[in-house]
Amino acid sequence: MKKVIIDVDTGIDDAIGILLAEKSGEADILGITTVNGNTSLEQATINTRKVTTLLGRDDLKVVQGATRPLLREPFFEVSVHGNDGIGGALTEMEVEIRDEGFAPDFIIEQAKKHPGEITVILLAPLTNMALALRKEPRLKEWLKELVIMGGAVDHPGNITPAAEYNMYIDPEAAKIVFHSGLPITLVGLDVTSNTLLTKKDVEAIQPGPARDFVEESTVHYMNHYLQRNGKEACAMHDPLAVGVALDRSLVKTEKYFVDVETKSELCDGQTVCDFKNYYKREPNVDVCLEVDGARFIQKLVDTLGK
Ligand code: BDR
Ligand code: CA
Repeated sequence: MKKVIIDVDTGIDDAIGILLAEKSGEADILGITTVNGNTSLEQATINTRKVTTLLGRDDLKVVQGATRPLLREPFFEVSVHGNDGIGGALTEMEVEIRDEGFAPDFIIEQAKKHPGEITVILLAPLTNMALALRKEPRLKEWLKELVIMGGAVDHPGNITPAAEYNMYIDPEAAKIVFHSGLPITLVGLDVTSNTLLTKKDVEAIQPGPARDFVEESTVHYMNHYLQRNGKEACAMHDPLAVGVALDRSLVKTEKYFVDVETKSELCDGQTVCDFKNYYKREPNVDVCLEVDGARFIQKLVDTLGK
């Protein structure tokens, strides 16, 4: 089992990512850290706790982190994820939020305890990870790797023409993380836009609480996608990052120097990938460029039905 910490701004696809990680049986989830992003920190934490309850894993730690980006204001993705962040699913479920500490400290504490073993799967703006790195530079030695859902190296953005949402919300944090020296795998829109979940896929999941959740939560998301892209489907951004963290054979990657724009009127949050090696900088990111989308979606459908 792979030791993981999952950082989320739950979010419909974050929720499905957590379901995938737990149901895969391949991830030893040390804790789930929450951050401001698709929705407020408080709502993201409630949503995450609802997902762990659905999984019968109330014992899992859900640790709250940053309430806002490092330098900027929050911007919630209501049009994609709905007012509550999970498309109106699980509204009836009541959960109790425990005080489990502060997410950046939790990452540091776990990394120190399990040196060289932990993969941090980052499915949200990178604020928590940046704060942890600023506080404890030895994370570079202690963590095994980071798998980040974010960016679009050779693909248009999804929140501006240039930027993907997680990078756009906290580009300063993303810059800190990209320059951390940690091994990074970037699962961006280049590949996640090729992992679309359709209504037919949802119907193929074995009946049970996970399928009910996916069915209910994705109605809103699929409508949004239909209006924007003309397809009744939705991109499994965060689940793919979980999938890649557990099974690298799903993607083809190449190492490049990648940086994040923080000082532009039009391009803040853009992930700039030096494909032609103009900067002559040491590659810092393993960039996912191709994915076996059909295999991943099949795996997702099978695993959620377990
Ligand atoms: C990312 O942004 C969020 O809306 C999703 O949860 C995902 O992490 C996709 O751009
Ligand atoms: Ca997310």
